Amino acid sequence: MKHRDLVHSTSATLARWVVASLGLLLCCRLSAQPAVQFLEKQKVWLLTAAHSQYALTTNREGELVHLWWGPRLPAADFESGALAPVANRTGWGENPQYLEFPGWGEWRYLEPALKASFADGVRDLRLRVAAHQIDGERLTLTLKDAHYPFVVELRYRALPQFDLVERSAVLKNTGGQPIKLEQALSAVWHLPHLQSWTMTYLAGKWGAETQLRQVNLDQGKFQIESRHGATSHQFNPWFAVSEAGRAGEDHGEVWFGALGWSGSWKIAAEVNAAGRLQVAGGIHDFDFAWQLKPGESFETPVFVGGFSAEGFGGASRQLHAYQLAEVLPKPQAAQPRPIIYNSWYATTFNISVNQQIELAKKAKDLGVELFVIDDGWFGKRDNDRAGLGDWTPSKTKFPQGLKPLIEAVHGLGMQFGVWVEPEMVNPDSDLYRAHPDWVFHFPNRPRTEQRHQLMLNFARPDVAAHISGVLDALLTENAIDFIKWDMNRHITEPGWMEAPPAQQQEMWVRHARAVYDILDRLRAKHPRVLWESCSGGGGRADLGILRRTDQVWTSDNTDPLDRLLIQDGYTYAYAPKTQVAWVTDNPDGINRRDTPLRFRFHCAMMGTLGVGGNLLKWSSEEEAQTKWFLAEYKQIRPLVQEGRLYRLRSPGRFVVPGAGSGFGVPPLGGSGNDGFWAYSYVSPDRSSAVLFAFLRSSELGNDLPAIRLRGLKPEARYRVEARQPDKANPPLGTQTLSGTALMERGLALRLRGDYASALVRVQEEPMR
Ligand code: DGJ
Repeated sequence: MKHRDLVHSTSATLARWVVASLGLLLCCRLSAQPAVQFLEKQKVWLLTAAHSQYALTTNREGELVHLWWGPRLPAADFESGALAPVANRTGWGENPQYLEFPGWGEWRYLEPALKASFADGVRDLRLRVAAHQIDGERLTLTLKDAHYPFVVELRYRALPQFDLVERSAVLKNTGGQPIKLEQALSAVWHLPHLQSWTMTYLAGKWGAETQLRQVNLDQGKFQIESRHGATSHQFNPWFAVSEAGRAGEDHGEVWFGALGWSGSWKIAAEVNAAGRLQVAGGIHDFDFAWQLKPGESFETPVFVGGFSAEGFGGASRQLHAYQLAEVLPKPQAAQPRPIIYNSWYATTFNISVNQQIELAKKAKDLGVELFVIDDGWFGKRDNDRAGLGDWTPSKTKFPQGLKPLIEAVHGLGMQFGVWVEPEMVNPDSDLYRAHPDWVFHFPNRPRTEQRHQLMLNFARPDVAAHISGVLDALLTENAIDFIKWDMNRHITEPGWMEAPPAQQQEMWVRHARAVYDILDRLRAKHPRVLWESCSGGGGRADLGILRRTDQVWTSDNTDPLDRLLIQDGYTYAYAPKTQVAWVTDNPDGINRRDTPLRFRFHCAMMGTLGVGGNLLKWSSEEEAQTKWFLAEYKQIRPLVQEGRLYRLRSPGRFVVPGAGSGFGVPPLGGSGNDGFWAYSYVSPDRSSAVLFAFLRSSELGNDLPAIRLRGLKPEARYRVEARQPDKANPPLGTQTLSGTALMERGLALRLRGDYASALVRVQEEPMR
């Protein structure tokens, strides 16, 4: 099938689903309250979603006070004025009011949203509500300092269909003197007063990104953060909080949020002396300072928050649906992600035109749709010591430039993609030799190299403009359909000595914004190109980069067993469609583990599928199986990429810091600690689903527990069919069962051996 046909057929399926879902939505919306209301008499701003509400009010001093975030409450409770803001009555010496966007000043000691110094040296904020504006689903509240010409515009966007609220702030200097910003977060989220709180978050390292963790919060602060100048492998800017012990995958109330920022960030969960929890987050204040000149504004990134009464699964599905509809760049958001072949693990830096064409032919034959040449095609890039910064094709590897390879790939009917690492230089490069001052550095200090590379300072407009021009030329001169933007180190020695001293610390924000700006410009000029975000694997995965790139290379670790853990965590925050996974060779590069091709495929098919093995060495049996899997993936692709994900049995590796656990320590909780994991993807109209199941190892001849599906129509009848390329190890026959039976009794799969797995398709049968 040609890519265009593929887009059409998938779009048709999608269109049917969208119509079905819209119908549902419309029914709900007809009887719904407006998304944003102002109750004049009570002075309450109310954001109402399908199942949740967010409310604000003012106090006698005119400050903006948080009123409610949680399940929907009857309108009468707001209208009667009976819902007063809760105050902290036990905290001696602490202002008892829970301010919605606290500026640091007077008797406030908790994490503020904002800290500013005025030109006369005053470092104290007194913000009062001055105006508000409602525009459909958007609410803007304007706060003004009581004395100084400083205006804060708080922007809210209600997303009633997803039970989410987007928050950001615009800080304005309306006077004639500069104002120094020392902290400028996006939001402080106040939680209801419950017994005790657990925070769920994503931590990790290179090769082990997005590992799910939980910690019980107690009085004090628990902070996840990045000081890297990038999102980081160590923590991801997503959180969920729930009352301790009361929420699971399918049940319980969960409040959650995800910050859209790809520079340094922090999310601080703080429980005060009265037991109240607030979660503050945004651009990291560490080494941050911003000079707001007269007339200038500073806009904070969007921090989206949500409430789910359906546990972590519900929270994830809300975020996934939101990303597909609102975050991912259009028009690609609605298009299917093509199956990638990436030659990095097969050929690393040792590439030539003919060898890549050979790989491309094999890839095409197997069913691949997008051929990507990774690192090593440019400059003197024969290893990782040279070439970064010189973005012209290697004269030895591509004497005629990229065109012969691009034409061959297009001639085969595939799209063509290329890898770049635009923020980097090797000291051994023409660019660095010409502009050694273009990298972040301090005088009198060595320049720390990582992977033999330094980082260009995009805070400098000339440097950002140069790279933007280079990428533009690359896309203009070559018929490139896809770019993988990598970042294999983060910032050290953050010097920007050319800038006036008062502005030098702006580099953290300016660099990240310049990356966004370059992507925005290139997307506008080359709108067909698909982009992948990568930072040595999943070091730059967040809702900011996902507004500009279509997918993420989630990890360099392609061991399917590890990958299941990484993918599981990733899906708590991000849509499966954005997660790229390749099937690579045995043994994998990190654990040296051998796993069956089937297991590797099933794992990689749960997101955007890719192949990354050395196809020139694959056996005819491996080729035959691969063809089958790629054809199968094309059929289930709409489900995986657009469907609703149910983590039926998760690896569940919750590690609680402070409880004697750490990396490599056995899991403490979760349903899938027996090494039996299952996920299903259900179409929005609930007529079809696909189930993936994985067994690490059979033990003691035990039968596996039934897998109870979720999200189907109880009354419908479904044809259930295990699909596989061969007759070996049949996990299940074909059967027809009601939605109720599938969800209550479940499916009994017969998986045996080590690294056993199954793919089961579920399709509603027409009513007789
Ligand atoms: C790190 C990426 O994660 C890999 O996929 C690959 O692109 C290498 N960089 C190339 O240097």
